[in-house]
Amino acid sequence: MIEFRDVHVSYDAATPVLRGVNLRIEQGEFVAFVGTNGAGKSTTMRLINGLLKPDAGQVTIDGVPTGELATSQLARRVGFLFQNPDNQICCSTVGEELLFGLRALGVDEAEAHKRVARIVARFGFDANADPFLLNRGTRQLLALASIVVLGVPVIVLDEPTTGLDYRECTQVMDLIAQLHADGTTVVMVCHDMEIVADYAHRVVVMHEGRVIDDGPTFDVLRNPATLAQASLLPSQIVQLSLELAARHAELAGSPVAAANDLDQMVHACLAQLGGADG
Ligand SMILES: Nc1ncnc2c1ncn2[C@@H]1O[C@H](COP(=O)(O)OP(=O)(O)OP(=O)(O)O)[C@@H](O)[C@H]1O
Ligand SMILES: [Mg+2]
Repeated sequence: MIEFRDVHVSYDAATPVLRGVNLRIEQGEFVAFVGTNGAGKSTTMRLINGLLKPDAGQVTIDGVPTGELATSQLARRVGFLFQNPDNQICCSTVGEELLFGLRALGVDEAEAHKRVARIVARFGFDANADPFLLNRGTRQLLALASIVVLGVPVIVLDEPTTGLDYRECTQVMDLIAQLHADGTTVVMVCHDMEIVADYAHRVVVMHEGRVIDDGPTFDVLRNPATLAQASLLPSQIVQLSLELAARHAELAGSPVAAANDLDQMVHACLAQLGGADG
């Protein structure tokens, strides 16, 4: 469990960046952090993995303040994917890259090789390939795999799909969804509301260093005050349903107005048309 209690942070004493953040993330959740540029999302992620310590307030992991956990203890609990995979790839082969974190955690060499072999097979990697010659999407997958191989209970992902094409994006997100289904807690910063709508179960909206909304994904994506304050557009289907309901009074409160994804929208529209015919 991750908990923020009235957390304040600044990079230089003059400019507060987080201004009293409170939140709690339980094991097994899939939470997306959204909000305008500079809202404090990446700063919040750095606090979770202990790269940054609060000026005031407390960040705890399983009840222990991050300041009291050694880097190696934190690394066993939280895996971190930087926005740019090149910032975390440092070895000359894919196999070495995957072994790197396990060795740093002191995992027995035979066990480490076993785990790496499993991951290489799962991802279809070439263990001898040079990571820097891989395409952007595969490098992102490698960066993700180097966290997955550690078997940590929490993964923190700062914009995991930025710069990926549609196929790569789906590949990365489906893998993250699989990790979540297997019990991993997923905390993800994401600017793409389609991805948020498709994958996250809870959304935290940040604005100017504060949490301005926090709840089930579609409660948040349908909150007009939140959307306006954080300059967010909801996913396209939610936007369509909100607009249809706003323009056609007879749809207010109908399944068309409540549709959150394409399937729901198609069924609701067909039912509505069928109803109109009958
Ligand atoms: N290393 C740093 N040194 C000084 N100021 C920083 C540093 N990192 C971030 N900031 C400032 O802190 C504020 C919050 O930054 P942060 O990166 O957390 O925002 P963000 O919500 O992740 O934004 P984005 O969506 O652009 O990634 C911004 O005003 C930013 O300029
Ligand atoms: Mg950021």
